[in-house]
Amino acid sequence: MALTGLILVLFVIGHLIGNLQIFAEPEVINQYAHFLHSLGPLLWLVRAFLLITVILHVWMAVLLVIENRKARPQGYEGEHTHRASYASRTMQYIGIIVLAFILFHLAHFTLRVTHPEYEQLRYVLQEGAYQGTEVLDVHAMMVMGFQKPLVSLFYIFAVGLLAFHLRHGFGSIFQTLGLRNKYWAGTIEKTTITFAVAYFLLNAAIPLSVMSGVVDNENVNSIGESAEVLTLPEDASSESTE
Ligand code: HEM
Repeated sequence: MALTGLILVLFVIGHLIGNLQIFAEPEVINQYAHFLHSLGPLLWLVRAFLLITVILHVWMAVLLVIENRKARPQGYEGEHTHRASYASRTMQYIGIIVLAFILFHLAHFTLRVTHPEYEQLRYVLQEGAYQGTEVLDVHAMMVMGFQKPLVSLFYIFAVGLLAFHLRHGFGSIFQTLGLRNKYWAGTIEKTTITFAVAYFLLNAAIPLSVMSGVVDNENVNSIGESAEVLTLPEDASSESTE
């Protein structure tokens, strides 16, 4: 559980850092997304690895619940263990909701089956090795996605639950490694809370900034008005890869 959890924690931190590029001009996150998409088979390898990690993480969680029930079908009575069993129980439910969120999220932004119109959001890269390449406008897609308050609220709710899940999970990693002794317990507790709060606030800032208009995108505003969303730089040739 600890090892798969640690891998997933590293993924969500990396993903958050990538997503925070929405605060820069569209070129930045679109370059980044195109770079990831251009990895081809390597990207699929990482996706497969992540999928296996999630499956193992859930499988270990189910085994743990079954073992705990077998070991003590009546549940704990003492005051000290009440908190632990409460936290573990909420972890199960939160884990299920987070899993449901991930499935929705993949359908929403990666497969785009919930919103096929995102495909119309195109962007022509202006700089670097991919200059002139027409790609999916990930910046515009995020803005368009989070302009819907219900979608934004669902994301904020889900990352809130995930932050809670991470807080407990992060603490458990130290417990598993045997590092949670009376000297370190306070520091570990403070670190995990700070990490979870920061994770939540930084993630929530993305939909909140779109809803409040702090982050906007011209491409989203002009869609529908014009089919020609972005014009090419004069000397660059366009080549659509996504
Ligand atoms: C505010 C929060 C989030 C935002 C704005 C966001 C944004 C995005 C975007 C835009 C993509 C599509 C990237 C592309 O196709 O170029 C994506 C993919 C993905 N996201 Fe998120 N995400 C958020 C939270 C999460 C969370 C909490 C998780 C997992 C716990 C997650 C897991 C994934 C996964 C697995 C992919 C697919 C990556 C791939 O293989 O292409 N995301 N996200």
